[in-house]
Amino acid sequence: MTEVPDSMPADAVILLTGATGAVGNELLRQLAGKSHVLVLTRRPPGAQELPTPLSAADCGAVIGDLRDPDLPLILRKKAPSDVTHVIHAAANVSWNSSRSAAFEVNADGTRRLLEYAAGLGKLAQFCLISTAYVCGTRTGYITEDDPLPATYKNAYEESKAAAETVTAQLMGSSLTIRPSIILGRSDSGEIARFRTLYPLLSAWNRGGLPMIVGSDDARVDIVPVDWVARSVIALLSAGAVGPFHLVAGQKSGSLADLANAMAVALNAVRLHDGKTQLPRPAQVDPETYNRMHSPLIDRTARARHRMLLHAFDQYRPYFSTPATFANIRIRRALGEHYLAPPPLVEFIAAAVWYWWRRKGALERDGSMQP
Ligand SMILES: NC(=O)c1ccc[n+]([C@@H]2O[C@H](COP(=O)([O-])OP(=O)(O)OC[C@H]3O[C@@H](n4cnc5c(N)ncnc54)[C@H](OP(=O)(O)O)[C@@H]3O)[C@@H](O)[C@H]2O)c1
Repeated sequence: MTEVPDSMPADAVILLTGATGAVGNELLRQLAGKSHVLVLTRRPPGAQELPTPLSAADCGAVIGDLRDPDLPLILRKKAPSDVTHVIHAAANVSWNSSRSAAFEVNADGTRRLLEYAAGLGKLAQFCLISTAYVCGTRTGYITEDDPLPATYKNAYEESKAAAETVTAQLMGSSLTIRPSIILGRSDSGEIARFRTLYPLLSAWNRGGLPMIVGSDDARVDIVPVDWVARSVIALLSAGAVGPFHLVAGQKSGSLADLANAMAVALNAVRLHDGKTQLPRPAQVDPETYNRMHSPLIDRTARARHRMLLHAFDQYRPYFSTPATFANIRIRRALGEHYLAPPPLVEFIAAAVWYWWRRKGALERDGSMQP
């Protein structure tokens, strides 16, 4: 039997980036109180409302930006010298970022963090939170051992692949985590940022989502954030190195499964608040959309409506790609301690409920736009 402790060694001192984000904030929640944690953040602690406040990091915060060329110097000056683990969860995660903006944070920023980490005398592990979508435009059965592809769906994916490459060059062995699409905690739905599928939900709720463009054979792989964080900690504790998919894999559903599950969850919260039930948006295949709907939208829709409809174009490749991610490596590394992620139908209601309670504030500050 493989012994996998579920928490980090008692003397671990962890530098965590991205602690105000979805993944980093859940990592902070699960690490705080058990390990010494220091966060790298652009914003002073306390400046924002988060499920886990940054003050939970007992070693405090270093204020710094991954885009700052002086970042290695700032960290050397301000972070304790006995950091044993770096967990790099900060990134520009926008699917429609420009190439330069995505690379500046994800590739160059990672290089700066690595330059700092390489000088740490006690560094035991460097963990890069990457994405399953470094597979780019590949289809079929995707394993972690496949080489990085030549083409990507967007600059985000390409810049994350560049982050993996620079990490391999500068760090040698490291732990690379590749989750699929992440939603809120499986029990409470909590999540620090509403990205990925939440803007779709928001548009659907406002009546601004007449259709979802995607293919019948596409699989939409979705996992809850608490399972992702738990798996990262388990892999770190097990001393795992190399790339690991954190995915639903063969258990992921179709686009129709996702739309049905979202419809049930959204209508449940609407019913609870006495609002009318909404129909499920029609599913349109990409070929029909390109041939009929897109030209019609361009010809007839008003500028603002056109912009809104096209804002959802970024989802299309994710809803059209017939790809299934392997999860054999994490199963092997954790052995009988591997816990499979819960199926989407078991956690979507909590995710939608949490979003429903928080969405007013988020829509007001603009962070729900795709
Ligand atoms: N969410 C998903 O579905 C998903 C799926 C697969 C992989 N991932 C990966 O998981 C990681 C975390 O993603 P997430 O969903 O947690 O993203 P997120 O919620 O958007 O959070 C991004 C984090 O990165 C920080 N950050 C962004 N730019 C920065 C900069 N220039 N300098 C310092 N910090 C910066 C943000 O800080 P501020 O508060 O200052 O903005 C925030 O803490 C990323 O590597 C992403 O590629 C996410």
